[in-house]
Amino acid sequence: MSNEENWYFICETNEVNYKHFKIVKINNLEVGIIKVGNNEYRVYKNSCPHRLGPICKGTISGTFLPSKQGEFIYDLEGRIIRCPWHRYEYYIYSGNILYSDLKLKLKSYEYKIIKNKIFIKLK
Ligand code: FES
Repeated sequence: MSNEENWYFICETNEVNYKHFKIVKINNLEVGIIKVGNNEYRVYKNSCPHRLGPICKGTISGTFLPSKQGEFIYDLEGRIIRCPWHRYEYYIYSGNILYSDLKLKLKSYEYKIIKNKIFIKLK
């Protein structure tokens, strides 16, 4: 469903959680939506900018932080999306790739909530 401003209904707020993306198809576009805070969400195209893997089917986890040789510091639990294809990691809030010179970023979409219904804007 859309209106003249290209806002598309994708789901109800109670269908989205912190652990997994809810994947929704709009015409030929597949997007994933995930909860990241109280009434705060992120919507990303289900396509990794590395080699177009289904990023929204990746795991949500933490990661090992850069550290000294022989040190292993695990942090950021629940804030990392790990691509299922080549395991590149992206920060869930910004969509930016972690610890890489590649400068990759997930394609995100603006959203709005009206009476517990989530709409995204497609240009
Ligand atoms: S396609 Fe996602 S890391 Fe390669």
